[in-house]
Amino acid sequence: MIRLVWCLVVLGMLSFGCKSSAPTEPPAVEQPAPLREVASFPVGVALQARRLSSAPHTRAAARTFSSLTAEYEMKMRPLSSGQGVYNWEAADDLVSWARAQGMQIHGHALLWHESVPAWVENFGGSDHEFEEAIKEYITTVVERYKDDVVSWDVVNEAFDNNSGALRNSVFQKRMGDDYLARVFQYARDADPDVLLFYNDYGATYDANKRRSILRMVDDFQSRGIPIDGVGLQAHVTYTFPPLTSIQAMMDSIVVRGLKVHLSELDVRVNPNGDLTTLTPARSQAQKERVRNIVTAFMALPQEHRFGITMWGLIDPESWLIEFWGNPEWPLLFDANVQEKPAYDGFLEALQGR
Ligand code: XIL
Repeated sequence: MIRLVWCLVVLGMLSFGCKSSAPTEPPAVEQPAPLREVASFPVGVALQARRLSSAPHTRAAARTFSSLTAEYEMKMRPLSSGQGVYNWEAADDLVSWARAQGMQIHGHALLWHESVPAWVENFGGSDHEFEEAIKEYITTVVERYKDDVVSWDVVNEAFDNNSGALRNSVFQKRMGDDYLARVFQYARDADPDVLLFYNDYGATYDANKRRSILRMVDDFQSRGIPIDGVGLQAHVTYTFPPLTSIQAMMDSIVVRGLKVHLSELDVRVNPNGDLTTLTPARSQAQKERVRNIVTAFMALPQEHRFGITMWGLIDPESWLIEFWGNPEWPLLFDANVQEKPAYDGFLEALQGR
C-alpha cells in the first residue's frame, strides 16, 4: 500500500514536472504586415539619431518603413555651427543606419527659418557674401549626401500664414524676393539627379498660402527653375482639415506634373485637450482618418506618389506634445512600440480595404 502511494506520488511529480517544462508562454501575438512590404510607394518615418541606440525603435522602424527623414540632424543649425564648419556625425549615423536597412533617405531641410545658426542670423559680410555662404552650404551638404539622399526639402515654410506673403526670414532679407528660385538652382547644380521639394504646412486649408505656393511652382516652371515635388507636412487632426481640401491640394500639385509627399504626417486626437488617455473611440476615429488620408493618396497617379512619411515613431516622443502642451497620441506606434489601430488603418488602405 505504502509502495502504491509512493508510486502515485512519483508519477504525479513526474507529470507535474513534465507539464512545467512544456512551453508556458502565451501564444505569440501575430504582428501586422510591415507597411514597407505592402506599399507601392515609400513609407517613411522621421527619427532622431539618439533613437538609434534603442533596439525596440530600430527594430520597429526598420521592419515597418522604407524611407527615413532626419527629424532634426540635417537642418542647418545642427549641421553647421560656423561658416564652413560642419558637424556631420549625427546625420551620418542616420544615413549609414538607413542604408544598412535598405531605406531611402529624404533630406530635410536645406533652408528653414526655424533652424538658422547664429553665424547665418548675424552674418557680418555683404549680401553678396551672404549668398555665397548659403550657396556653399547647400552645395557642400547636397554633394556630401549625393549617393544616399534621393530627395531634399530645399526650402521649408517660406510663406507666412494667412497673408501668404513671402516670409521675412533672414534668407529673404539678405537675398531678396527671388531667393527661392536661386537656392533651388544651387541644389540642382550640386546634384543633377536628386529630387527637389518645396515643403510647407497649411497649404490644404490656408487659401493665400496655397495660392503663393502654387504661384511659386508656376513661376519656376515658366522660367525653367528646377522643382520636382511639393511636400505637404500633414500635421492634421482627426477631423481637420477636411479630406476634400487635402485631395484638392494634392490634385493641384499633380496637375502641375509634380510629385506629392505627405512629408510629416501625424494625426492629433486631442486638439481640444478633452482627453487624458487615448480612448478606444478616439483611437478608432484616428484609424479611420489615417485610412482615409492614405486612400486619398493612393488615388493619385503612381508617378506622382512620392511617399508618405510619419513624423515620428512612437506617441510619447511626438514633437506635438511639447508644441501644443496637450497629451497627444498622434503616431502609428504606442509607448510600448506596439502597432496601434492607426497602423491598421494605414495598412488597410494600402491593401484597398
Ligand atoms: C520639429 C522636430 O520634430 C523637433 O524635434 C525639432 O526640435 C523642431 O522641429 N515642421 C517641420 C519639422 O518641418 O522640421 C518640425 O520638426 C515640425 C514642424
